[in-house]
Amino acid sequence: MLKIFTSTTFFSFLMCFISCKEKEAKVEVKKSITNYCMEEYRPQFHFTPEEKWMNDPNGLVYHDGVYHLFYQYYPGDIVWGPMHWGHAISKDMVRWEHKPIALFPDENGFIFSGSAVVDINNTSGFGSDEAPALVAIFTYHNMEGEQAGRSDFQTQGIAYSLDNGDSWIKYEGNPVIGNDGIKDFRDPKVFWNEKENIWTMLLVAGDHLQIWDSPNLKEWEQVSEFGKDNGAHGGVWECPDMFKLKVAGTDEEKWVLLISINPGAPNGGSGTQYFIGDFDGKTFTTEQTESKWVDYGRDNYAGVTYNNVPSGDRIFIGWMSNWDYARDTPTKKWRSAMTIPRKLSLEKNDGSYELINYPLHQVDGLVKNKVAGKDFVLHPHSEKKLLIEHGNQSELIFKTADPNFSLTMANIQGDSLFVRLNKADKSALMNRSKAGKTGFSEKFALGNQQMPMPNLPDGEIEIRILLDKSSIELFVNKGQYVMTNQVFPKSDFTELVFKNNTERAIGVMDFTENLVERIWE
Ligand code: FRU
Repeated sequence: MLKIFTSTTFFSFLMCFISCKEKEAKVEVKKSITNYCMEEYRPQFHFTPEEKWMNDPNGLVYHDGVYHLFYQYYPGDIVWGPMHWGHAISKDMVRWEHKPIALFPDENGFIFSGSAVVDINNTSGFGSDEAPALVAIFTYHNMEGEQAGRSDFQTQGIAYSLDNGDSWIKYEGNPVIGNDGIKDFRDPKVFWNEKENIWTMLLVAGDHLQIWDSPNLKEWEQVSEFGKDNGAHGGVWECPDMFKLKVAGTDEEKWVLLISINPGAPNGGSGTQYFIGDFDGKTFTTEQTESKWVDYGRDNYAGVTYNNVPSGDRIFIGWMSNWDYARDTPTKKWRSAMTIPRKLSLEKNDGSYELINYPLHQVDGLVKNKVAGKDFVLHPHSEKKLLIEHGNQSELIFKTADPNFSLTMANIQGDSLFVRLNKADKSALMNRSKAGKTGFSEKFALGNQQMPMPNLPDGEIEIRILLDKSSIELFVNKGQYVMTNQVFPKSDFTELVFKNNTERAIGVMDFTENLVERIWE
């Protein structure tokens, strides 16, 4: 009896002990989840590294059910340093899982930007036909070489993974492309060239693009170059990308070439230009004479697109910062975020090709509290104030047939972020100089950022704004014209003021302000 009593008591004590411990553990986990990625200015629905410095997106590729996001990463500090490739994976490009660092610097140098491919035909021999290798192609930056004043310190290397990106083996024959003395020689983007049945690499060389071919990702030969006399040349060319898109509503196909440039962007510092043209399998040509820009805000740089996307969509992610002040922004644990992933498409408007970039439809799944939109009228020379209930974790969306007014987002601290749409002048502007902290760099605030909108159509258009703690992304007419900027307000914006300075009444339709779910739970 005693024995039974003792053992039952002991048993129930043990059960209670275990369940209490479990409860404690649950509380612990919950606590850490609640605080996870909640630091001041931490984006809630954009990708950020858990800690430390991040810049360019690298190796964007889909393979075996996951989208990979590698990125320029320095695990030692929140400023740029010896570059590694950080790594994250996602099933939808919206919610990310952090993975261990993929590529570490080695005797050839730091690991600068580049791309990744799935070697489906096992051209490299790294994998097999049944289990193709994931191959990363990147730039080696040899710091000693640079410091010694040499000009051949950037070369190209490759590495492969046989377990879908979890572990990497550097190719023993690295570098696969040496350097004949070109100081800025980097950022290889590789894709399968269907016309020639060969791998094609885009590589920037200071003020122009080089195109190289390879049968096996190991042996490369230069086949052409482009751009010494094309486009903007205010700074070095970086992070190229090139792909084919159908012109909306037609059967016409054109090639799009993306080139990031730093400095020399239209509103200062870093920016990404694009060229629309043709690619015959070896050479890119264009009739474009003017410079065109993916984004007129100051914080969308080094953006490139995914290889191997099953739907065939062209999906773009950019680094949401600018070399003018990237190292100085007021975050403590980590630095920088990526833009929201965007689908690219091509339109021909008024005889001119325009590259459209608009949030992936998967982002819509994060948007909560959708309520019926409000219609209202902005009377001549008047203001209309609305509340922003979800602060800087929100989507503001509405339609208008007369985009000729300003929008000011404000908080109780007196910070204000100003946007003006001026269809009459075919332009828009954004001004963040009063939107919170700006003093960390004299190059941050500047004044008005201008955006031309030469082909905004007549009729109703959509205006969509994503606010995420320390960023604003403005999409005019579903991504025809886009501005992306960082902002560091002292607290979240709580008020939105529309101002109509015209003589006429302006209608605003379907206005809603929605909560965007955090991606970190
Ligand atoms: C662009 C860039 C690339 C380079 C990398 C280094 O932001 O300058 O050209 O590979 O960053 O981190």
